[in-house]
Amino acid sequence: MGQLLQHFLLKCLLFLILSHFLTQCVSSMLRFCLDSERSALLRLKDSFILNQSASDDTLAYPKVSSWKLEGQVGGDCCSWDGVECDNNTGHVIGLDLSSSFLYGSINSNNSLFQLHHLRRLNLSDNNFNRSEIPSAIGNLTRLSRLDLSWSGFTGQIPYEVLQLSNLVILDLSRNPLELRNPSLKILSERLVNLKHLDLHKFPDFLLSQDEVELLDLRDNKIHGFIPKWIWGLSAQTLHVLDLSENFLRGFDQPIVVPQWINLRLLDLRSNMLQGPLPIPPASIYQYFVSNNLLKGEISSGICNCT
Ligand SMILES: *[C@@H]1O[C@H](CO)[C@@H](O)[C@H](O)[C@H]1NC(C)=O
Ligand SMILES: *[C@@H]1O[C@H](CO)[C@@H](O)[C@H](O)[C@H]1NC(C)=O
Ligand SMILES: *[C@@H]1O[C@H](CO)[C@@H](O)[C@H](O)[C@H]1NC(C)=O
Ligand SMILES: *[C@@H]1O[C@H](CO)[C@@H](O)[C@H](O)[C@H]1NC(C)=O
Ligand SMILES: *[C@@H]1O[C@H](CO)[C@@H](O)[C@H](O)[C@H]1NC(C)=O
Ligand SMILES: *[C@@H]1O[C@H](CO)[C@@H](O)[C@H](O)[C@H]1NC(C)=O
Repeated sequence: MGQLLQHFLLKCLLFLILSHFLTQCVSSMLRFCLDSERSALLRLKDSFILNQSASDDTLAYPKVSSWKLEGQVGGDCCSWDGVECDNNTGHVIGLDLSSSFLYGSINSNNSLFQLHHLRRLNLSDNNFNRSEIPSAIGNLTRLSRLDLSWSGFTGQIPYEVLQLSNLVILDLSRNPLELRNPSLKILSERLVNLKHLDLHKFPDFLLSQDEVELLDLRDNKIHGFIPKWIWGLSAQTLHVLDLSENFLRGFDQPIVVPQWINLRLLDLRSNMLQGPLPIPPASIYQYFVSNNLLKGEISSGICNCT
């Protein structure tokens, strides 16, 4: 009898130990936020003032307000609003603080730049008080999507952006930024994975570019007429112009584009171009205009293309 009881108690003990480990295991899977990243996020939160007038979007709200150590989700920063973690490693890989009332200056000392595992960062529609884009952005080398649009950044885009070789989407629109050094040319040469560069609300800075050879504005939600600043691009050097997959309705001047004397490739596919076929310059080698709303006859010599 005594032996049976002993056996039973031993089993109970084993069960308790096992279930204890199981609970720990499960809870560590659910609460995998890393201490260093949690504290970086809290310091990031403290580095800004929340100011309603910093965001314009009607759906804006202060996401970081819910970032707390206490409460239901407590210190698990992976369940904080706007934070996305890797399910296996627990590293913070996504931060969406768009339209979050963030107001204040930001520099390279900001703890944001300690989140080295970030792949997606969205700070769109805040007010960073005319800060320059901090050079420490270059430390976030895993970034594939970076959205700093409409957030009060000024000055030259830092050279360190070129270190972000994994970037696929870069949205810097609606900030008064400059792109001299690095230039757009260097940017497009070095960021080889970049598929979506959003600059369409930048009327001026491209005019300061001396030697744009390739301009790829494919799939950039450009509406209406082809933006005027395109006509200011260097006529001598422009070889490739890709404006496909936008919502362009036409050109605001006749598109003979005679001044682009070295243009080799013109891609206007999948827009809403109306009327007769735009006539490309004689230098053209490849010309794409399918999937538009073009009408009219195609004259035999649409250009003197050799
Ligand atoms: C909120 O931001 C506006 C400008 O965006 C500024 O004029 C105002 O002083 C700010 N308020 C606070 C409390 O910082
Ligand atoms: C991580 O897990 C969450 C919740 O189960 C899931 O919604 C999400 O898609 C997962 N993320 C990845 C990258 O697998
Ligand atoms: C905004 O920038 C001004 C000028 O650089 C500075 O004096 C002020 O402290 C900044 N405000 C915030 C909230 O960072
Ligand atoms: C960053 O912090 C260091 C040490 O606190 C300081 O010396 C440096 O001036 C700061 N840099 C900026 C850009 O504020
Ligand atoms: C960014 O990288 C530079 C050079 O590798 C390093 O000195 C610096 O400490 C890094 N900054 C952060 C915030 O990790
Ligand atoms: C950033 O957030 C805004 C607002 O939620 C969204 O419209 C935009 O597409 C996001 N940017 C990226 C690159 O995902």
